[in-house]
Amino acid sequence: MRRAIYPGTFDPITNGHLDIIERSARLFDEVIIALLMNIEKSPMFSIQERVEMIQEVNRWSHVKVDTFQGLLVHYAASQKAQVIVRGIRAVSDYEYELQMALMNRRLEPQLETMFMMSAEEYSHLSSSLIKEVFLLGGSITGLVPDAVEQRMQSKVGKVKG
Ligand code: PNS
Repeated sequence: MRRAIYPGTFDPITNGHLDIIERSARLFDEVIIALLMNIEKSPMFSIQERVEMIQEVNRWSHVKVDTFQGLLVHYAASQKAQVIVRGIRAVSDYEYELQMALMNRRLEPQLETMFMMSAEEYSHLSSSLIKEVFLLGGSITGLVPDAVEQRMQSKVGKVKG
């Protein structure tokens, strides 16, 4: 049983994340999308909302959604996962990802980090950029799943209203 963890903050999930999930789903018997319950100061969506959005767009029966706190390596061990999947978009991601992968390897040598290139059309996407463009009135159609775009619209409507 090959089990991978795809960790992140997913605030919100983008089409770039979904692309990596689809690639991982082809390679592993089970993929766990693991949302970090972090202390990020001002997330757009609560953990519960982020979980719901991922569940809405998850079309694979062997892809699960979960949340975790604390060290990723401890969570991975608790799930008996052998692999952490991370997407790499541009060279600028590399340094941060390298640091994390090497620290995680130091903490848990048996756990492997696997990097995947997202599809070219998503290589410029990040949740924070999408939020910024959206909040300033730009179009994000095609960058996030429709269900996520609708949630973003109703969230901003709620804030304004
Ligand atoms: O979506 P992100 O913000 O790029 O994901 C970062 C994440 C969640 C993978 C990273 O912050 C993480 O693993 N946090 C858990 C705490 C931890 O294990 N820290 C040490 C990492 S070397």
